[in-house]
Amino acid sequence: MERKVVGYVYESPSVREFTFVVSRDAEDVGVGDYVVVREPDSDGRELLGRVEDVRRDVHEGIKGEIAKASMVSGRPVPELDWTVVARVEVLGALEDGRLRDPRMPARPTDAVYRLPESELEELFSKGEVFLGRLKDSRARVFLGLNELITLHCAVLGMTGSGKSYTVGVLIEEMARHDIPVVVIDPHGEYTSLREPSHDRERLERWGLEPEGLDDVEVFAPPHSEGVKDYPITIDTTKLEVDDFEVLAPELSKRKAAPQVLEEVVKELQRRYRETGEKYSLEDVVEELDAQAKRARASGDVVQYQAARAVLRDLRPLLRYGIFDMAESPDLRRHVRPGRVLVLNLRGVPDRAQQIVVTHFLRRLFELRQRDEIPPVFVVLEEAHNFAPAGEERSSSKTALSVVRDFAREGRKFLAGLCVVSQRPGRVDTTVLSQCNTMIVLRTANPDDLENIRKSGEGITREALERIKGLPTGTAFVTGSAIRIPAFVDVRPRMTRHGGETPDVREIVERWKEDDAEEDLDLGI
Ligand SMILES: Nc1ncnc2c1ncn2[C@@H]1O[C@H](COP(=O)(O)OP(=O)(O)OP(=O)(O)O)[C@@H](O)[C@H]1O
Ligand SMILES: [Mg+2]
Repeated sequence: MERKVVGYVYESPSVREFTFVVSRDAEDVGVGDYVVVREPDSDGRELLGRVEDVRRDVHEGIKGEIAKASMVSGRPVPELDWTVVARVEVLGALEDGRLRDPRMPARPTDAVYRLPESELEELFSKGEVFLGRLKDSRARVFLGLNELITLHCAVLGMTGSGKSYTVGVLIEEMARHDIPVVVIDPHGEYTSLREPSHDRERLERWGLEPEGLDDVEVFAPPHSEGVKDYPITIDTTKLEVDDFEVLAPELSKRKAAPQVLEEVVKELQRRYRETGEKYSLEDVVEELDAQAKRARASGDVVQYQAARAVLRDLRPLLRYGIFDMAESPDLRRHVRPGRVLVLNLRGVPDRAQQIVVTHFLRRLFELRQRDEIPPVFVVLEEAHNFAPAGEERSSSKTALSVVRDFAREGRKFLAGLCVVSQRPGRVDTTVLSQCNTMIVLRTANPDDLENIRKSGEGITREALERIKGLPTGTAFVTGSAIRIPAFVDVRPRMTRHGGETPDVREIVERWKEDDAEEDLDLGI
C-alpha cells in the first residue's frame, strides 16, 4: 500500500500539534488515523501524529448567509461549501522506527500523509506479546516482552471494562514464550485458563484457534470448594507478630492484646526450638484459649477479655485451613518455564488474603534475588486492596510494603509485576508509578483518571477524554513496551475467560424453570 497525501498543514501552534486542511478526495480522514509530515530542518525525520478531532468549517459569505436564512425559515437550503480541518496530536519524531521528541513544528503548506496499514503494522509489531489490533485498523499490535517484565505494567479500568480478559491475553502470551506466571486471583477467575474459548468464530476472524493452556496449576485453601489441584498453606511457625496483627485486628485495638498473643507465640516457638515440633493456627488458638481460661480463673479480667477478643478474630480463620505447618505452593519447585500458577483466593477473608499475598510475594522476590527460580510475571488482581493509597492504607493492615518492594526492586531481579485495578485512584502511587507500561481501559471516575495521568507517560488530555467512552475490550496503551502510545482493540482469548459478565435475564429464566419444576412437584 502506498502512502497517500490527505491534506496540507494549516497551523502549527506548537511542536506537539498541528491542523491540516483535508483534501477533497480524502474526506474519510477521521479520529484515530495516523499521519506523518516531514519535520522541518531535520535529517529526514518525520513527525508522527494521530488525528484527535476533525471539523467542517462552512465558508462564510453570501452563500452562507443565504443558507442560514433558509434554515431559519425552513425553505430549501442552497448548496453549502465547507473545508474539512483535522487536528493532529504529534506523538513524536520518527527516527529508525523509534519515537524521539519533536524539535520543530510542522511547516504550514507541507503535505500530510496518512500511514497505510502496512506501515502501521511495521511500527507496532516489533514486540513479542500479541495484544490486539490498532483501533480502527487491521494493523496488529505487539508489546515488548522484556519491557513488560523488567519495567512492570498496569491494567486499569472500571468494572466490566475488560481488564481480566486483557490480563488473560497477556498470560496466554507469556505462556507461549515459556515465561512462568503467578496469578493472585481473589475471585477465582483464572482457573479457566486451561479450557479453550467457546468463541471459535471470532477467533477464526483473527486467524486464531480456541486452545486451553496445558500447564496450569491451581492452588486454593485446603477447605475451599472452588477449583484446585493443590492446597495453599502457610507455615504458621514462620508468622511474626506483625502478621498476626493483620489476621487479628483486635490486636491493634486492645492494649493488653499484643502481650497476650506474644506470650502464646513465644511459648509455642520455645517448644518448637526445643523439640522441633511445629505448630499451626489451631495450636495458637488452643493456647490462647487455655490462657483465657487461666486469666478467668485468676480473676484477670483485662487479660481474659483481650484473649477472648483475639480468639474471636482468629477462630473463623481456622475454617480455611491456610495456616498450617507446611508451605504450599513450594515456589521453588512449582515456578517453572511456561507454567501458570493460580492462587485462587475466592471466598477467603480479606485479612487472610493480605497475609497470603505478603508471604508469597516476599518469597517470590527472595527466590528471584537468589536466582532460584526463572524470571517470572506476577499478576496482582484487585491491587487497590493489597497496595491501597492514603486513607484506606491507614484504616487496615495490608500487603502494601511488600508490594512496594516488589515494584521498586523487581526490575533488577527480573520479576515483573502486573498491577490490575478497577480503582486506580486508590492504588498506592509509589506502586502505580513503577508500572511503566499502562494498559488503560474504560475509566470514568475523575480521581482514577487523575492518578492514571500522573503515573503514566504520554497520556494527553485528549486521550483521557477518549478513555472515558471506550468500548469494552479497547485499551489505551502507553509506556516502553509499545513505543508509540495507541488505542488497541484487544484480541480474543484462546482460553476461556472465567469472569464473564453474567446475563441477568438468562439467570432469571433459570429461576423461573426451577419454580416451574417445584410447582410440578407440588402438583400445582
Ligand atoms: N477484548 C474483549 N473481547 C471480547 N469480550 C471482552 C473483551 N474484554 C472483555 N470482554 C467481556 O467483557 C466482560 C467484562 O470483562 P472483564 O471480566 O475482563 O472485566 P473487568 O474489567 O475485569 O471487570 P472487574 O473489575 O469487575 O473484574 C466479560 O464478559 C468479557 O467476556
Ligand atoms: Mg476482573
